[in-house]
Amino acid sequence: MKKIKEIRMIRYGNKQESSRREGMVTMLRACPVPDDELFLNIGMFLTPQTLSRVLFMDFLYRSILNIQGVVIDFGCRWGQNSSIFIACRGIYEPFNRIRKVIAFDTFQGHARMSPKDKATMKKGDYSVAAGYEKYLDSLLAYQEQESPISHVKKYEIVKGDASKTIHKYLKDNPETVVALAYFDFDVYKPTYDCLLAIKDRMTKGTVLGFDELIEPACPGETLALKEVLGLSRYSIKRSQYNARSSYLVID
Ligand SMILES: C[S@@+](CC[C@H](N)C(=O)[O-])C[C@H]1O[C@@H](n2cnc3c(N)ncnc32)[C@H](O)[C@@H]1O
Repeated sequence: MKKIKEIRMIRYGNKQESSRREGMVTMLRACPVPDDELFLNIGMFLTPQTLSRVLFMDFLYRSILNIQGVVIDFGCRWGQNSSIFIACRGIYEPFNRIRKVIAFDTFQGHARMSPKDKATMKKGDYSVAAGYEKYLDSLLAYQEQESPISHVKKYEIVKGDASKTIHKYLKDNPETVVALAYFDFDVYKPTYDCLLAIKDRMTKGTVLGFDELIEPACPGETLALKEVLGLSRYSIKRSQYNARSSYLVID
């Protein structure tokens, strides 16, 4: 497995935060809670930052309960958001067998950069361990089995450059309507291409979430939204749970 230190990514925290996190990771790996109680107590390790992510995904999911369509996690990386969405489906609509969760990623980090991205961002940033998509597939299968009608597979992992794979996915699944799409590519090109590709798959009430909108380190995400949907047509709302996350509702 590739060590985390070899993976380039933007970090916003200071040194104290890094060493505090290292301390918590050490505590997690040395956790004396027995295996059969570990998941029951996993909340012990949620910090305000990590809990806010769960709460925001829960908020987005609750916003589309009466909207028909699939949930797309664009730039899923380790797959946390996809896993949370599947858990939310199990809580709020356990018998909705057509609420698919689809996770897109290269699983090799940023595929290509554009002049619209910050020069500090590089191809390959945010890569994951080799073959990670297989691990994620098994994990999402387990997650799905925690809820009813688990014999119907309701998630999909799409590996590759999403600028290309989104077109194949929509061709193979022409019935697709998007209820929720979460954009976390960080970079311009796949954000632009995927927004454009799903534009005519949105309906009134479709929710679009963005991880890096208005983030100076990742201008490409905002530029992609500006070029595809415009910034004034929809009210760009901020998450009550953390400063950076944003969303809009198609009306
Ligand atoms: C910031 S990370 C995503 C983090 C993740 N959503 C989370 O919550 O932890 C950005 C992800 O976008 C992916 N990515 C970047 N460009 C891509 C592209 N053209 N096609 C597919 N995935 C891409 C990267 O591989 C990376 O996993």
